[in-house]
Amino acid sequence: MRFKSLIVLSGASFVFAATGSPQQSTPGISGLDAIAARQASLDMSSITFRSMGDAMKAGREAKSQGYPAAALAKWAKALPRMFPPGTGEGETSADSQALPAIWRDRPGFDRAAANYASATARLAALAAANDTAGFTKQLEEVDQACAVCHAFYKAGDQGAPKK
Ligand code: HEC
Repeated sequence: MRFKSLIVLSGASFVFAATGSPQQSTPGISGLDAIAARQASLDMSSITFRSMGDAMKAGREAKSQGYPAAALAKWAKALPRMFPPGTGEGETSADSQALPAIWRDRPGFDRAAANYASATARLAALAAANDTAGFTKQLEEVDQACAVCHAFYKAGDQGAPKK
């Protein structure tokens, strides 16, 4: 029975995929809205990331960080779609540090985003397992995933903004 309903479900998503065009995947979101949303989310990522490091330094257990870790993992999955074409540095009236390399080398950017998504998914799993040593180590992996993407695809100063 479960198997059968899975087939029905995948059939339904196939129909959806076949009728949807790429433009329809972001209904109603303008380039300026995408820039504003991604910059706010990236600022909040920075705050969230730091708060987890601070919690570990204060001797908290990994499981206390389940919510912030899962929030970063959730955002990591949405991140690449917040960079539609035409929203780079100098392409709109908004200030942006998104480099043209994002669209010139889209597979590379998507790989950097996927790397970040898996690093944060693992972080969330380690929090859920209350593996405090593993979680603390994984924070460094996540930091690397931020830095690698910034090195290739973000203009301006690298590293976290000053506290
Ligand atoms: C896959 C690429 C990628 C990953 C991963 C990534 N960033 Fe960024 N980040 C960017 C790009 C591109 C910009 C420039 C966006 C813009 O200005 O439109 C940016 C901008 C920012 C900004 C400035 C936002 C603003 O208000 O202008 C901060 C802060 C930031 N990132 C923090 C982080 C942190 C912290 C992480 C990891 C926890 C991270 N980023 C992961 C690509 C990435």
